[in-house]
Amino acid sequence: MEKLEALEAKYLKLKAQRDSLKRQRDHLESELALARAPLEAMQREEDKQRALRHRQQSKLPIPPEALRLRVHGAADEVTFLSLGDAIAFGVREILIAEARPMESFQRILDFGCGCGRVIRFFEGLPKSCELFATDIDPEAISWCRENLKDLATFSRNNDEPPLDFAPDSFDFILAISVFTHLPESLELAWLRELKRIARPGAILFLSVHGQTRFWRVPSASYDELERRGFCYARCGVTAGLPDYYQASFHSEAYIQEHWSKFFYLRGIVPLCSQDVVICQK
Ligand SMILES: C[S@@+](CC[C@H](N)C(=O)[O-])C[C@H]1O[C@@H](n2cnc3c(N)ncnc32)[C@H](O)[C@@H]1O
Repeated sequence: MEKLEALEAKYLKLKAQRDSLKRQRDHLESELALARAPLEAMQREEDKQRALRHRQQSKLPIPPEALRLRVHGAADEVTFLSLGDAIAFGVREILIAEARPMESFQRILDFGCGCGRVIRFFEGLPKSCELFATDIDPEAISWCRENLKDLATFSRNNDEPPLDFAPDSFDFILAISVFTHLPESLELAWLRELKRIARPGAILFLSVHGQTRFWRVPSASYDELERRGFCYARCGVTAGLPDYYQASFHSEAYIQEHWSKFFYLRGIVPLCSQDVVICQK
């Protein structure tokens, strides 16, 4: 009986400590948010200037709101353009760090290109680089075909492989925010397919929701993520995209164990709130 009371007292003490730590954390978080506010305002202004500059300098049309929303989750043009620009810039920087600058590739594929948020910022590459892009979304692809035709060759693919490309077709493949939405069976099928169409030595940048996004994992999926290092969480349907298009999250250990069956893994680096897995065939 005494032991039980002692345990109960200990439990209550720990609970009080936990509540106090939670209050301290909330307080620190609100202080941090205040401190960050001016920086975030500066970032927003910089993003806006960047987007305006792109609109002035590039003749490429901007996709309609419905298509932007589908890939970007927000309706405004400014963040659509500035995030696309930031991702494209980050991709080029990582390639330079890998000693494989974008200009060194001959055939580049943007897998899951959507309405061209990223690929539009690859305008101006030398003629020796041929750009291809593919997506399941027929409306996005037909918009790209009409409006970005001088930039790349666009094609529509099915939910499942294969793609209409010969083996060993590309020396660089980019998939931004595609493996962040697939169930495991489709993920494995697409990894196998991308390996098929990559040339020996090709580089692939495949982005995932890594550790820094785990706070977005719905509580019902947290156990699975802890247990397996991977979870596929149902978050609702995105209008215009198939039902399987949900949210998946990957730990580094899961990537190392499963993706290394397909590719040599050169590293995992952060890029605009996702992680890019740098793979090599
Ligand atoms: C978040 S959007 C990103 C689009 C583009 N990569 C970007 O960064 O703007 C995800 C894209 O993946 C596409 N997608 C989903 N499943 C796919 C699949 N099996 N094959 C090709 N694309 C797919 C969707 O249609 C959508 O355009």
